[in-house]
This record gives sequence, C-alpha cells and structure tokens, in this order.
Amino acid sequence: MNKNFGLLVNGKWLKNKKTIDIFNPFDGKKISEVSSADSNQIKDSIKFAHSAFQSWSKTSAKFRSEILKKLFKLTIESKDSLSEIITLESGKPLEESKAEVEYGASFIEWAAEQALRSEGKLLESPENNKKMFYIKRPVGVVVAITPWNFPLAMVTRKVSAALAAGCTVILKPSELTPLTALKFGELAVKAGLPNGVLNIINGNPKLIGELLTKNSLVKKITFTGSTKIGKLLMKDSSSTVKNISLELGGNAPFVVFADADISNAIEGFIAAKFRNAGQTCISANRLFVEEKIFDKFLKKLVVRIKKLKIGNGFEKSDVGPLISEKAIKKIKNHIDDALSKGGEILIGGKKSKIGKLFFEPTIVTNINKSMKIFSNENFGPIIPVIKFKSDDELIQLANDTNYGLAAYFYTKKASRVWKIIENLEYGMLGINSGKISSYLNPFGGLKESGVGREGSIQCLEPFLETKFVSWSYDD
Ligand code: SIN
Repeated sequence: MNKNFGLLVNGKWLKNKKTIDIFNPFDGKKISEVSSADSNQIKDSIKFAHSAFQSWSKTSAKFRSEILKKLFKLTIESKDSLSEIITLESGKPLEESKAEVEYGASFIEWAAEQALRSEGKLLESPENNKKMFYIKRPVGVVVAITPWNFPLAMVTRKVSAALAAGCTVILKPSELTPLTALKFGELAVKAGLPNGVLNIINGNPKLIGELLTKNSLVKKITFTGSTKIGKLLMKDSSSTVKNISLELGGNAPFVVFADADISNAIEGFIAAKFRNAGQTCISANRLFVEEKIFDKFLKKLVVRIKKLKIGNGFEKSDVGPLISEKAIKKIKNHIDDALSKGGEILIGGKKSKIGKLFFEPTIVTNINKSMKIFSNENFGPIIPVIKFKSDDELIQLANDTNYGLAAYFYTKKASRVWKIIENLEYGMLGINSGKISSYLNPFGGLKESGVGREGSIQCLEPFLETKFVSWSYDD
C-alpha cells in the first residue's frame, strides 16, 4: 500500500503533508499514511455537513433508501478487498474480517429498508376542531466516532442509520484503523451520496473531539469505545446539550450451570471469548462455572483452547494479535495484580513468541473480587474463572460490576431461564449461545456500558427528533 490516504470533505479527497502512520499489528510494519486534518478542515467539515443537511433532510425516504441499497451492493461486491484491509490494519483473522463485511453490510441493507418505515402518528384528540399528532424529523449533523475493533461494522451501524433518517455525517474512525472507513467512503461516493452528506476526517483525536463536541451546528454524537472516553464526550457535549448515544465497555459474565450441554457451552465460550482475540465490547470477560462441573469443564476447556491456532490473520489463524503495546501492558498488569492477590495460572500467562503483540490464551483461577481482572474489561485472551454454588450467588456475583453490556448463560432448565433473564443487569443476553450480534439486536448496555441502542427495528430512532403538533381550526 504505502500511499497517503486523504480526508473526505464535501465530496473531495483532501491530502495534507501532515500524516499519521498506520501499522500492521501482526508484524508492526507500516502499511500506509493517512492525512491528518487541521482545525480549518475540521471546521469546514461541520460547515459543509450543515449545508448539505438543508437538502439531504428534504429528500424522500425512497431516494435515500435507493442510495443505501446501492451502497449495500457495492459493499458486498468489495468483500474481498474490504476484508483484506480489515485484517491488514486490525490483525484479525481473515475469516472474521469476511464475517465483519457481511455483518457490516447487513446494517446498510437494514437501514435502507427501515428508512421506508419511518412514521409519525395521528392521535385521538380529546377536543373537536383540534388535531393532535407528531412527526419525526432528522436531528441534523451527526458526528460518528468509531473504534478500531470493528473498522467497518461499527461505521455502517451508525452511518447508514443516520443517513437513512435524513441526517448528514462527519465520521471520525479510529486513528489505528482508518483505511477501512476510507474505502467505505469511496464506495459511498460511488453509490451517489451527494457532496457533504458523508465527510470523513482523521487526525489528532483530542483536537477533533474538542472541535466537534463544542460546535453548536453538530446536533448528535454517536460513539463506540471506552467508558473513559464516553464520559469525556458526554461532558464536552453538555455545553451545547447534544443528543448522545454511547456504546461503551463491558465486563460480560459467561455462565455455565451444571445441567448445561458442556460441548455446546465450550464452543459458545470460544466464540464469545476469542472473536477478535477477546477485543470486543461483548467478549466473555469472566467465566462462571457451577461447582459440580467446575473441574470437568475446565479440563475440556484447556484441551479446546490448546487447539486454537495463534498467528497471522492471513494464514488461517483463530487468534490474532492485540492492537497495541498498551493493550499488552494492560493485560500483563491485570495478570500481575491477580497473581499478587492469590490468583493461579492454569494455562498461558505470558506474551507469545509469535510476535510483539501476541499474548497466550490464559486461564486464571482462584479469583477474588478485589482483583482488577474481576471488575475490569481485559480486552484480550484472558479468562478469569470463578466457581459458584447457587443461582442467587451467581446473580449477585455477575451483577457486581459497573458495566452492563452483554451476558451469556448455558442451562437446559427452563424454570431457571426467566429468573436469570429478569435479574441479570445487562442490556443483551445470549442463552445457550455465544453469538448475539445481528442487525436485529438493539445493541447497547446498562449502567456505565452506555446510553441508547443501535441497530434493530428502532435503528433510525437515535437520529430522529419527535415534533408534536396541536392544530386548532375553524369549521
Ligand atoms: C463492539 O465490540 O463494540 C461491537 C461488537 C458487535 O457488534 O458484535
């Protein structure tokens, strides 16, 4: 690759001398450069998005839907090139990247369809000669800030719903994985999006964040990433009271009851834990196993984990590298903290010899609540395992966290299922399944895992305002 990729502002690709370097996490080699936006270009992107909103918001839903359908088709046709870019810049196994392109494209198709179903409502007025109703209007200029772990799917989940609703967008992809988003921008232009409707800027996240959150022409911020940055965005956008949606960190419990189908539970766990090497907000972060099957389950899990191939995403691997040195440092710190408080390593526990950013799949036992590994997201291939005796004890332990994004549990006992659904404080639950991601899922969490939902039958709602009308008239 090794070329300078530009910024997309008002339909033009701009190139700057100042660039940021993009690296392949597999071997640390530089892949390419991306232009870094200066303050004027960031302000211009807001101005152009605002001006484009005046016409885009007045187009028919059918018109927007047709453009999104073209974009869906182009995305599917570009599956090979998009998945190669995803693996190159994020390190994830190529098969996962292909699955991400299909997952990402499903949000575009769904938003195109949902655009046609947006509706207001005529209410039964209590007075004669008075009509009461509400209509839906697009919120305005949307800023979408997306993470590096799903360089395409998190972009399409936000951007296609915003465009379908009639909003214009400034997209700020992660500075670690911007190439996929830029390729997506090329496809969006090809699909016929008018100038200024989608703008893509990269560069210094602090500068971009400040300029975008404090500008009153920006009406909505939608962000996926860490709880720490989510809180900062919430604070910074409070001065202009922006509409905000946040999908933040998780600390997902994965629970195996004694009556579960053990083989299914193991496969579900592998899927929920090792997708993107444990770097997803919904990754299984703590494994709870009922006392009666604890030893048997762990024995089988160790055998299964040893079969995982760790390596280059382009060489049929199951587990790729972590995204950065910082990520490696964090999990080492979690492991050291656990060991200093009585934790024991069952397998793994150290960096892998494969490369600088690889960490061995690791199981830590003898966990207690004072350990960082219990209460924080590890975002890596680390598994703290906790024994429990009863449903009530499990519910108490699983909920003992500030997070509430996703949870998983395996049981065959129908009478237990409802109790667990009602009592686990999480926004999304997988029952006898380690896979919950779908365009149908109202994706989001409770507690410090975020505000609002994305995707689902209500995918346009976060990008719409409700306008109520009370209309009196003469006979
Ligand atoms: C995330 O990690 O934030 C998203 C994962 C998904 O959509 O499956």
